[in-house]
Amino acid sequence: MARRSSSFVCQSCGAVSSKWAGRCDSCGEWNSIVEEQTGSGIGGGPGRAKPGRGRVVPLVGLSGETREAPRFLSGIKELDRVTGGGFVRGSALLVGGDPGIGKSTLLIQAAAALARGGLKSVYISGEEAIDQVRLRAERLGLADAPVALAAETSVEDILATLDASPPPALLILDSVQTLWTDVVDSPPGTVTQVRASAQAMVRYAKKSGTAMVLVGHVTKDGQIAGPRVVEHMVDAVLYFEGDGAHQYRILRSVKNRFGATDEIGVFEMTGAGLQEVANPSALFLGERSMNAPGSAVFAGLEGSRPLLIEIQALVAPSPLGTPRRAVIGWDSARLSMILAVLEARCGVRFSQHDVYLNVAGGLRINEPGADLAVAAALVSSLSGLALPANCVYFGEVSLSGAIRPVAQGQARLKEAQKLGFDRAICPQGNVKDGAGPDIAAEGLQELGEFIARISARTGVQTRD
Ligand code: TYD
Ligand code: MG
Repeated sequence: MARRSSSFVCQSCGAVSSKWAGRCDSCGEWNSIVEEQTGSGIGGGPGRAKPGRGRVVPLVGLSGETREAPRFLSGIKELDRVTGGGFVRGSALLVGGDPGIGKSTLLIQAAAALARGGLKSVYISGEEAIDQVRLRAERLGLADAPVALAAETSVEDILATLDASPPPALLILDSVQTLWTDVVDSPPGTVTQVRASAQAMVRYAKKSGTAMVLVGHVTKDGQIAGPRVVEHMVDAVLYFEGDGAHQYRILRSVKNRFGATDEIGVFEMTGAGLQEVANPSALFLGERSMNAPGSAVFAGLEGSRPLLIEIQALVAPSPLGTPRRAVIGWDSARLSMILAVLEARCGVRFSQHDVYLNVAGGLRINEPGADLAVAAALVSSLSGLALPANCVYFGEVSLSGAIRPVAQGQARLKEAQKLGFDRAICPQGNVKDGAGPDIAAEGLQELGEFIARISARTGVQTRD
């Protein structure tokens, strides 16, 4: 018989230690360590049974016949774009996001679309009762779709149910935190349970050729709670982002064994569920204040998709000894860097001012290509001069104040042109990207050149 032993597992990061402590050494979280029994089962760990004699597996060369991953489309274009062209048979996908962001809504819509298209889809809800799921389906107008539904949390029962009939094309498990298996003794929701349950389900997906979607909730700091461990087991991880104040939801791929990462899909939450947004730039610029100082349009790139986003800055005289810097939707360290470059290289002073920066529409930008647009918005707000409404900005700013070229200049310029912009201020290195007849790209080599133009018109305070 396998020896049973206990170990102490941090519920925040999954670190295992041999004794209890008030604070996890690994992630620094307080009161997150829980004693867990580890059996000989699929959880692995210290109690794992001694392996018997293994079987010989054939070793093969790197070249050989490979097949394209077999895919099928979900029928929701924005979702298919993010997965890299549809669900992959025999793969596991994790969809993470804050509670209430719309994960269940999106997945029931996908399950219904597939079922209507004649593919078998199974939706297992561990969080909501059958009636709740049915009510939602009715509200979404999906009640007639032949989705196979169950409210169940036991992995053994789910597997027995699935084994009783041909495997489905799509299996949705909502959510991974509610699953539990008999094989390990820990309570549901603990890292050990989540890991063991997810492992058993991933094995089923690989064996049966089902495309499986696991739903996972995210903690405040943006990590998939506890089941960070699940990220390593699955083939693709998608995050569903957005904030309560906005109707827009962004689905972003952060890991994808079958496609590109950082690809985004844009949805709008409406009374009739999630609607795809085919032209997100128009949406993000929809509420733009054209003639207000502090607003700059950034021609950005999310994955392979060009996206125009309004960057808003407010620079106001500060009564405080240490002025405030607040950022929403961008990296605060990056903002400090841009402010430092503006001060040190261009002589624009912000030390007496509070600085607020906001990316409109609830979007989060990770790209350094936004530097120039941020600098433009900051200087515009400080000087009180509105930037021209027909102009977009992009470019990376280096610590020396040089403007560095960014990837996909042409795609950015095209998108700007499509939305009616006729000027772009961008890195010199991107000008050759061929702006086309309808948009004039003005190249910059130094941030100072841009400041010089603005100060010529407003006399913004500079050292020289
Ligand atoms: P839900 O999909 O339950 O979120 P999650 O599974 O990520 O926790 O989404 C719930 C929210 O979406 C809830 O606040 C109500 C809103 N909603 C709509 O606005 N319209 C709709 O048609 C539906 C179904 C939900
Ligand atoms: Mg849900």
